[in-house]
Amino acid sequence: MNTVTYNGLTFRPFISSEQIAKRVGEIAAEVSDAYKDRNPLIICVLKGAFPFASDLFMNLSIDAEIAFVRLQSYSGTESTGSVREVIGLDESVKGRAVIVVEDIIDTGRTMAKFLEELKAQEPAEVKVATLLFKPDALQEPLKPDYVGFSIPSKFIIGYGLDLDGLARNLKDIYVLSTDPV
Ligand code: IMP
Ligand code: MG
Repeated sequence: MNTVTYNGLTFRPFISSEQIAKRVGEIAAEVSDAYKDRNPLIICVLKGAFPFASDLFMNLSIDAEIAFVRLQSYSGTESTGSVREVIGLDESVKGRAVIVVEDIIDTGRTMAKFLEELKAQEPAEVKVATLLFKPDALQEPLKPDYVGFSIPSKFIIGYGLDLDGLARNLKDIYVLSTDPV
């Protein structure tokens, strides 16, 4: 695999599509085991999580439903910062087993705020699945239940993750290269 360039920044291959597919299959098997006969509601956090949520959902061997939410986080004013639902949930989560699916948890602020709002709607249970997790960057008391890959605090793109809207359609995941090309 070669390097790719977006907005003058060079990225090198980091996680291959084969590795992603294998890991997503493993998580789908775990979820299928854990949620048999419970019809979980999978909530895909747009935009970045759509490839992961799609592959995960399509690999489930149990009944499950999918819903979408788009969040916009306001950073800057720490604890008072809120997460707005740009596209809100139209399904009721009350009494349901819910799995929130994210592309990446970095500081964890987006997820922490969303979980707070979600729990106010009284789901029976909420779990979090994230394809990527940067444990060193985490600022919230949050522990994702399903993690695809734990990675160092570096900027990555591909498989849903973007740089200014671009690179979401890369099949592999790339990391910002600090090395000269
Ligand atoms: P958090 O609220 O700091 O956990 O950030 C979550 C959001 O920041 C993610 O949903 C992504 O949209 C974005 N983000 C964090 N790290 C990266 C990255 O390495 N590449 C692309 N987007 C990222
Ligand atoms: Mg995101």
